[in-house]
Amino acid sequence: MKKYNVGVIGATGMVGQRFMTLLDNHPWFDVKVLAASPRSAGKKYSDAVGSKWCMDVEIPETMKDIVVMDATADIEKIASQVDFVFCAVDMKKDEIKALEEAYAKAECPVISNNSAHRHTPDVPMIVPELNPEHAAIIPAQRKRLGTKRGFIAVKSNCSLQSYVPALFPLSKFGIKDVLVCTYQAISGAGKTFDTWPEMLDNVIPYIGGEEEKSEKEPLKIWGKVEGDEIVPATAPNFTAQCIRVPVSNGHMGAVFVRFENKPSKEEILNIWKDFAGRAQELELPHAPKQFLHYFEEDNMPQTKLQRDLEGGMAISVGRLREDTQYDYKFVCLSHNTLRGAAGGAVLMAELLCAEGYMD
Ligand SMILES: NC(=O)c1ccc[n+]([C@@H]2O[C@H](COP(=O)([O-])OP(=O)(O)OC[C@H]3O[C@@H](n4cnc5c(N)ncnc54)[C@H](OP(=O)(O)O)[C@@H]3O)[C@@H](O)[C@H]2O)c1
Repeated sequence: MKKYNVGVIGATGMVGQRFMTLLDNHPWFDVKVLAASPRSAGKKYSDAVGSKWCMDVEIPETMKDIVVMDATADIEKIASQVDFVFCAVDMKKDEIKALEEAYAKAECPVISNNSAHRHTPDVPMIVPELNPEHAAIIPAQRKRLGTKRGFIAVKSNCSLQSYVPALFPLSKFGIKDVLVCTYQAISGAGKTFDTWPEMLDNVIPYIGGEEEKSEKEPLKIWGKVEGDEIVPATAPNFTAQCIRVPVSNGHMGAVFVRFENKPSKEEILNIWKDFAGRAQELELPHAPKQFLHYFEEDNMPQTKLQRDLEGGMAISVGRLREDTQYDYKFVCLSHNTLRGAAGGAVLMAELLCAEGYMD
């Protein structure tokens, strides 16, 4: 595989820092550009990120001295130095939409963690194990944007990275209704216990905009490419409650599901055990060997014990049992800034490189 030069827009943030740890010594990607707000621009990365660095490893040596660029003012310069960019910024939605389109129009593909373009009909929202075929929409998007290389592809919200992977392989049984409660880590809000001490010994029953994302985004993943757009599916019917809990990393989901044709418990467990997607077939560098891990113990999976499974890229599932109102209930867990954000974006970029969309 050839090497690709990449940039990270929003490099100083929580997701941006994850990108640093994942892209250090990446076999296919060389980080050439780091960018953030005008507050950070012109500073060395280590100075710009300063005390905000909250990963459990040091800032990679190769990135410390890179001078941070201005994500908006330096678009043309950045686009001329890299093959594509990752983007995870805290800006207003319309500003992010314009920023990402500007990079795409400068012929620089954008792999985005932001929500701004998730419902743009010709922007694919790809989980490489589930809907890699949605990349086929990219030529239609390029036509709309008037670009040869440039396009935008997005990651879904971190909340659904546990329950959608567990449910998707069961689609053949006709999933009718899904009720999910998520128990989400504070890093999902770009925070640590130092920056959000109110979360110690506390639970907050509201995460702005999260429930709508958790109900609506899965339907795009289940959708179909039709002509120049991805048409969202109309089922399953999702209802969600999203709760902030006092853990640093890892989003857990408690799921209730009703099927058209109820499978046996054994069928579900076998499907989870055998499930592998395009990421595993292509042996992408960040693909977990086993995507879905089922735990038999009643008290598993636990956030602290399983969130880092297979480098934080695998999904942990447990407690599958029959329910009195729905057909089944179970719990599931994923690492929100790895599989749910930067790791998922890196895996998507690996898929798009392997499939020739970055050439
Ligand atoms: N945290 C998660 O688990 C998670 C999961 C999925 C998706 N996301 C999404 O990823 C994005 C970033 O989240 P985060 O948690 O990493 O946020 P964060 O820690 O607050 O970081 C925000 C980043 O955006 C940059 N930024 C702010 N204003 C900017 C501007 N005007 N121009 C350019 N850059 C600007 C910041 O640069 P400065 O340091 O220079 O201010 C920083 O690099 C958000 O859209 C979020 O919804 C987060």
